[in-house]
Amino acid sequence: MTQPSSFYEAVGGEEIFRRIVHEFYRQIPDDDILGPMYPADDLAGAEDRLRWFLVQYWGGPQTFTEQRGHPRLRMRHMHFPIDAAARERWLLMMGKALDTVSDEDLPEAPRAAMWEHMVRVADMLVNKL
Ligand code: HEM
Repeated sequence: MTQPSSFYEAVGGEEIFRRIVHEFYRQIPDDDILGPMYPADDLAGAEDRLRWFLVQYWGGPQTFTEQRGHPRLRMRHMHFPIDAAARERWLLMMGKALDTVSDEDLPEAPRAAMWEHMVRVADMLVNKL
């Protein structure tokens, strides 16, 4: 067997990202802080965008950039009021989404790496006191 050449391949490709992002977005409509920020009529599109971004970041296909251009995440989040509470809630939901995936499907090391990246990006996106 050949060695996986990227994190993306090592975790089995798109499937794991699809599952995590789907679980994340499933919680959005009912959330008092995040629900109103996300486009109610395009949650499926939003789900695609986050999944493509993560897939690309971890070494999979560059679909995000092909469809959306350079990520520039801080700029793309400027219209949303992201304070400490919103950051906390986003991470809480992402943590719950990650918890729905078994250790067999996502072992400790890649799980921790994904989580650290998400925390780092969430910290960078806070734009309001
Ligand atoms: C800190 C709390 C965060 C809040 C409140 C937040 C909120 C939002 C909202 C409201 C959207 C618009 C949904 C859409 O139409 O696509 C969005 C898009 C997006 N978010 Fe976040 N986000 C947060 C953190 C993050 C983190 C940590 C990441 C990456 C790890 C991320 C990656 C993205 C991406 C890739 C998009 C789509 C950008 C585009 O193509 O326009 N966000 N976010």
